[in-house]
Amino acid sequence: MQKNIAVIRGDGIGPEIVEQALKVLDKTAELFCHNFEYTDVDMGGCAIDKWGDPLPEEMLAKCLDSDSVLLGAVGGPKWNDVPGNMRPEKGLLRLRAGMGVYSNNRPAKIWPQLSSASPLKESIVNKGIDFIIVRELIGGIYFGTHKTELAEGQKVAVDELKYSEAEIERIGRIGFETAMKRGKKLCSVEKSNVLDSSRLWKAVMHRLADEYPEVELSDMLVDNCAMQIVKDPSQFDVVVTENMFGDILSDEASMITGSIGMIPSSSLGATKCGLYEPIHGSAPDIAGKDIANPIGTILSAAMMLRFSFDMEKEADAIEEAVSRVLDAGYRTGDIFPSEDNSGLTLVGCSEMGRLIIENIQKG
Ligand code: IPM
Ligand code: MG
Repeated sequence: MQKNIAVIRGDGIGPEIVEQALKVLDKTAELFCHNFEYTDVDMGGCAIDKWGDPLPEEMLAKCLDSDSVLLGAVGGPKWNDVPGNMRPEKGLLRLRAGMGVYSNNRPAKIWPQLSSASPLKESIVNKGIDFIIVRELIGGIYFGTHKTELAEGQKVAVDELKYSEAEIERIGRIGFETAMKRGKKLCSVEKSNVLDSSRLWKAVMHRLADEYPEVELSDMLVDNCAMQIVKDPSQFDVVVTENMFGDILSDEASMITGSIGMIPSSSLGATKCGLYEPIHGSAPDIAGKDIANPIGTILSAAMMLRFSFDMEKEADAIEEAVSRVLDAGYRTGDIFPSEDNSGLTLVGCSEMGRLIIENIQKG
């Protein structure tokens, strides 16, 4: 199969982790007789430096023309003082909105090889951690009006949180459909004891539940959910939630699996053209040192093959290669325990990529 992939290397560790993911894609293409072509796209801080805009129109157009987009990470302290609507992150939000990818799928699954890297007690980890956060990605407070005004001699800042029934319904359906393919348990997370948008959220979820009688729907307030994720993560199968709650809870969920560096994500809308990115940020403090963990990006590339290109066997081959490399004891710094590390080998970003490539096998 011939596929055109838009590639956003971005800022910080973005370029080095994407480099490894592209090598993994090349090896997979070679083994399974595909042809992947890459189109470079500037987005984030590097686009601000080069074009004065975090996502120039023609860059978005390249993404829309592609079969899918692979993204490293954007942002960094260098652009901290640029105006809010010109920040690197704004490029990312415009990309997500421009592609219409309203559904962000973030798995929180513990790799058995990394169970000791979890900060949770063994008795909790041993009950199993394997759930998915379905995060609404192009609505809510991220996309409401943002303004800072002077009122009675002081600055007052406003961020608007707005959701329509239609926006809630379409992400709700993804939540129910995802649950149908897994353990048939869906937890809708909101703050309906305070927010109107959450009360509407909850009502729409319950209306949808009638269409999915096999799915057991529960409601949970977001503060309680944050607590339950560390107290007993085994209770969750699929969590569906709004944009900002999903942002926060997915960082928490990733940490209990050992490291945020391991977690991929997929974002999809009405078409097969998706956006694939690790959930971590650009980590400017370790950029350029060849010590970042490329696995989150490599697994994001695997998700692209599975969800956008229907290449199941190819995606399995990449995930199995990652598993074999972990079995053999190779670890980047973020998953290398400071104690009890005998039998483990500390490796950098490019070496981790090389080991994974070496382990990709067909069938
Ligand atoms: C994420 C990130 C982004 C978000 C930032 C970089 C805008 O934290 O993908 O989780 O908040 O969505
Ligand atoms: Mg985040």
